[in-house]
Amino acid sequence: MAVLPIYEFPHEVLRKKARKVKKLDKSIHRIAEDLVDTMQNAQGVGLAANQIGILKRIIAIQLPEEDPRVYINPEIVDKEGEREVTEACLSVPGYRGIITRSIWVKAKAWDREWKDVRIKAEGLLAQALEHEIDHLNGILYMDHLEQHQKLEKIETEFNSEEVEVEN
Ligand code: NI
Repeated sequence: MAVLPIYEFPHEVLRKKARKVKKLDKSIHRIAEDLVDTMQNAQGVGLAANQIGILKRIIAIQLPEEDPRVYINPEIVDKEGEREVTEACLSVPGYRGIITRSIWVKAKAWDREWKDVRIKAEGLLAQALEHEIDHLNGILYMDHLEQHQKLEKIETEFNSEEVEVEN
């Protein structure tokens, strides 16, 4: 288990598409553990493997007061609605922006036991799933900003722990 450095924008690994995991072996378990450790150390809600420099489709998500989840090869299979959310990213420290996310999403993935899981999510979990799966496709949340919007620099007295959502 290890806390790894988080790659920051504009590092090119954040723009690469991660590859599907074909089989669950020790190395995948290790990546999953490192993702969870690194996410928890940074007090983030989620982290994708790209952010620790690994181009495999693995994400970790931890909602407040919940245990960490790991999803392997996650995919959004359905989604509906639009809502505005404030979003930030551990790979873009010091900034946040208002973007549009879905009201709910349905996703499928494998868990760490290689069991098929189906997730119907709304609220923060839906937002985190969209944000982290975007990472696996080389997409950052700023890519969803409308032209007239812009990133807001977080005031210095506003430390990163107070940001509602850092993924
Ligand atoms: Ni992020």
